[in-house]
Amino acid sequence: MALHIMSNEPTIQVKNLAKVYKMDGVETVALTDVSFKINKGEFVAIMGPSGSGKSTLMHILGALDLPTAGTYLLDGQNVGKLSDDALAEIRNRKIGFVFQAFNLLPRTTALENVMLPMAYAGLPKNERQNSAQKFLEMVGLKDRMDHTSNQLSGGQQQRVAIARALSLNPSIILADEPTGNIASAQAEEIMDIFQKLNEEGHTIVMITHEPDIAEHAERIIHIRDGRLVEDALNHK
Ligand SMILES: Nc1ncnc2c1ncn2[C@@H]1O[C@H](COP(=O)(O)OP(=O)(O)OP(=O)(O)O)[C@@H](O)[C@H]1O
Ligand SMILES: [Mg+2]
Repeated sequence: MALHIMSNEPTIQVKNLAKVYKMDGVETVALTDVSFKINKGEFVAIMGPSGSGKSTLMHILGALDLPTAGTYLLDGQNVGKLSDDALAEIRNRKIGFVFQAFNLLPRTTALENVMLPMAYAGLPKNERQNSAQKFLEMVGLKDRMDHTSNQLSGGQQQRVAIARALSLNPSIILADEPTGNIASAQAEEIMDIFQKLNEEGHTIVMITHEPDIAEHAERIIHIRDGRLVEDALNHK
């Protein structure tokens, strides 16, 4: 696995981001004047009340959506200036997504779920299989690879989703409430995995509204009503 070298070069740089949704003539301001930098190898939690703009921010950071105003530089590249193809390419190559609802395919084994992004990326079958096994082993599911999604607990499903997020070796992991649907003992296991990935050099940006989950990050950004209200190191 490629190791990412820690450096002070920001991997994520957002400046004066704004996002306004327009629906049936009604405007909702989701983000206002949000600026921050995240360096390679950081582990950052984003906290804030429901509706404060966290998922909106994550969609922008993941290049799944564009801001209404402001700039986003991802490894120095201006995301707002990229074509749809280039955006898709960046998402696949640089970012691994983990969602609250796991988003696994049902009636499909853990192994197949993890192999899928590698199939889309055109990797040969034996390579897909070997990598998927390695990532599932890494998240502690060596003995569950042939279980389908519905035959796994919530925590196990989320570990499959993390293995899938890792499948194309992204430098950044973006997680939106990764422990939101999981009992607390299993949530700690998920956090242990994130910690390990961070030690291996992955940059981690994790949304959560649970303080004890945010405690695992080394820096916590608070947003409220779409504005950044606090950005501080977390002294553990
Ligand atoms: N696609 C959309 N179209 C219109 N409005 C939206 C859309 N997505 C989000 N919003 C609105 O933008 C605001 C921010 O929503 P967002 O989902 O980013 O909040 P959040 O902080 O993730 O909340 P939660 O903790 O409940 O997940 C909310 O007022 C929401 O209703
Ligand atoms: Mg949300």
